[in-house]
Amino acid sequence: MSSHRQDALRRVTAPDIAARKGGVPLVCLTAYTAPMAELLDAHCDLLLVGDSVGMVVHGLPNTLGVTLEMMILHGQAVMRGSRRAMVVIDLPFGSYEGSPEIAYANAARVMKETGCSAVKVETGPAVAQNIDYLVKRGIPVVGHVGLRPQAVMVDGAFKAKGRGEDERRRIVEEARATADAGAFAIVVEGVAEGLAREITLAVQVPTIGIGASVGCDGQILVTDDMLGLFDWTPKFVRRYADLRGEIGRAVAAYADDVRARRFPGPAEIYFAKAG
Ligand code: KIV
Repeated sequence: MSSHRQDALRRVTAPDIAARKGGVPLVCLTAYTAPMAELLDAHCDLLLVGDSVGMVVHGLPNTLGVTLEMMILHGQAVMRGSRRAMVVIDLPFGSYEGSPEIAYANAARVMKETGCSAVKVETGPAVAQNIDYLVKRGIPVVGHVGLRPQAVMVDGAFKAKGRGEDERRRIVEEARATADAGAFAIVVEGVAEGLAREITLAVQVPTIGIGASVGCDGQILVTDDMLGLFDWTPKFVRRYADLRGEIGRAVAAYADDVRARRFPGPAEIYFAKAG
């Protein structure tokens, strides 16, 4: 491949994302498969292989059952399907919290086996030192504060965060510690507008909001939610399509055609060669 062609295909990097602080908002979506990554690539700065894959694709009740192997398989698919957007892969529950060394071994494996550009970790109080360890060893990290889905068993449910003063202060401190540890961007999930703005002002790196208002440096949604693939979506999701309805109509039409022997028709079958 010529260097010119390499330039044309250059992926968005961690410094490119970091440089967008306060600029044109970052456009981010989740992706789990190659064909979806191909559809999203031209429109997005960043594709996140989120551990939401466990709930969205594998039907798990929460993200706690997601494994490193699942993240690697989906990460490889998204890398194959995309060319330009930065691909970030979530480290799943239990793969990075225990110690900096465990976090490094697992993050390095994810990067080596997928070719992705960065990992994301949910930033509980014990995780900042692990982020520092990863970044100092060449692994770009995105943090994640506010509603942390991997803490669902501690919280008891997926609940918006930062409604009381103590929790607000703690989340701002966690965001600061995440940025100070070297994260190049921070996902802010499920917090009130005022808190999202406060975090965005408190840190030097871009904030990427989900259910966190327009007071962030960018936005991310679960793609399947915004495409309308589920019968229920959280309040903060805007549905840009009704793929659930479209798929239902298409499959019903196929079933009718099969039962009435209208499918396959002459254009959809092979004929033997004459002679
Ligand atoms: O797992 C995921 O999809 C995420 C986004 C909701 C930010 O972490």
